[in-house]
Amino acid sequence: MNERELISAAEKARQAAYTPYSHFTVGAALLCADGTVVTGCNVENASYPLGNCAERTAIFAAVAAGKREFSAIAIVGGNEGQPAAAFCPPCGACRQVMREFCAPDFSVFLTDGEKITRTPLENLLPDSFGPDNLA
Ligand code: THU
Repeated sequence: MNERELISAAEKARQAAYTPYSHFTVGAALLCADGTVVTGCNVENASYPLGNCAERTAIFAAVAAGKREFSAIAIVGGNEGQPAAAFCPPCGACRQVMREFCAPDFSVFLTDGEKITRTPLENLLPDSFGPDNLA
């Protein structure tokens, strides 16, 4: 599974997004250490704060399926019904959830529909707090 294939999986997952409030759809594809891919989309709610991001949907689904080791995630987002036209970086909450399970060199792939960028998690969440900080 290369980065383009992971981006394609995220684009496909994006089609399932439930976004009646923001009309901003996001898909995520999480590459697990065993080579499998688990996807997620954003799922909004009439009680706005209860909506869940695509990245956390994917990570929680993977953990619920018994997977806890991940090497990369691809994230694709944009206005509903339109192709991704700008990079969609993960929100702070999703970065912290990645930090729970992923190593500092975990790859976060983003696309603007043309270029693909790779950023290690440690650059997205420097000086972070994680499970290793607990006694
Ligand atoms: N969203 C994600 O799912 N992932 C991101 O990386 C950024 C934001 C969702 C949350 C909400 O449903 C919509 O995009 C607008 O913020």
